[in-house]
This record gives sequence, structure tokens and C-alpha cells, in this order.
Amino acid sequence: MPARLEQFAKECHDILKADPGPSGRKKIASRLQGLLQDRGFVGESLTDATPERQVLYEDPELGFCILAHSYKSAKTSPPHDHGPSWAIYGQAKGETDMTDYALVEPAAEGKPGKARALRTYKLTPGIAHVYNEGDLHSPARHGPTQLIRLEGLNMDRIKRFKFDTVA
Ligand SMILES: [Fe+2]
Repeated sequence: MPARLEQFAKECHDILKADPGPSGRKKIASRLQGLLQDRGFVGESLTDATPERQVLYEDPELGFCILAHSYKSAKTSPPHDHGPSWAIYGQAKGETDMTDYALVEPAAEGKPGKARALRTYKLTPGIAHVYNEGDLHSPARHGPTQLIRLEGLNMDRIKRFKFDTVA
């Protein structure tokens, strides 16, 4: 693992061990914003070979993950949360139009929930944003983008519910 990434993983571990709630995540987002300005860190973590989702680090004790994402073209995701997990989206290259939603009706097994759009804002290179448990959001990417993201738990192993948008 590249040294800067290893150092960041250790910092995240120490921060979350001491402060696993929203304020600890804010500290990590602030640290990540600094790293997103660091060409060395970005170049080591995101390359031409980076796929749409790559787990760079998974913490054996706390379960959080640091991920690299590289989308070669436009990519939009429907409204979602991360179930029992939080996430931090760090924009490295390109732009994401992120929309936040209010929960109108919870989702259940086999039944999509309902969500109403609240606001849309841009994530531009150097910006990191925290989504706590249950925060509904949908990213729209209109061209190539690259991100460094964290998940409180590896979402590969967590089932996601669907949400329909209502006016
Ligand atoms: Fe998300």
C-alpha cells in the first residue's frame, strides 16, 4: 500500500476509534479534503487501471473501508442510503451533482421506499462530504469522474433498498 494511503488509513482508524460518530467522520472528511489536493496521494490511489469500485483498504478491527472509484463516462445512481453504514464522498477529478432527499416512506424487503428531493449541489475536486446513516442522496456524473470514498462498513456485504422519487 502506498505510504500516504497507509498513513491516512491509520489516521482514520485512530479518529474513529476515539470518535466513531458524526464528528469523527467530519474530522476524516476534513483530512481527506487536504489529501485530495495532494497530487501524489491522488495519483497513487487512482490510476488509469482503477475500476468503478476498488477497495483500497478495509480496517480489520473497525470494518470501515477506503475505496477508489473511477467512472470513465457519465454515471448516475438512484436515491439511496447505505443501510447501517455512513459514507464519505471525496471528489478527486471531474464533478458530481449530488441531490439530497427527505425520507417520505421507508423501504422494506421487496418494496421501494419513497424520497423527495431537497437540494442539489456540486462536489468538485477537493470537496469531501459526509453522509451519515439514513442520509438519502443520489449522485449524477455527466462526464468522467474519480473519487476516494469511505464506507463505515464494506457495502459489498450489505443489501441496499431502493427508493422512488416523489414530488
Ligand atoms: Fe451513496
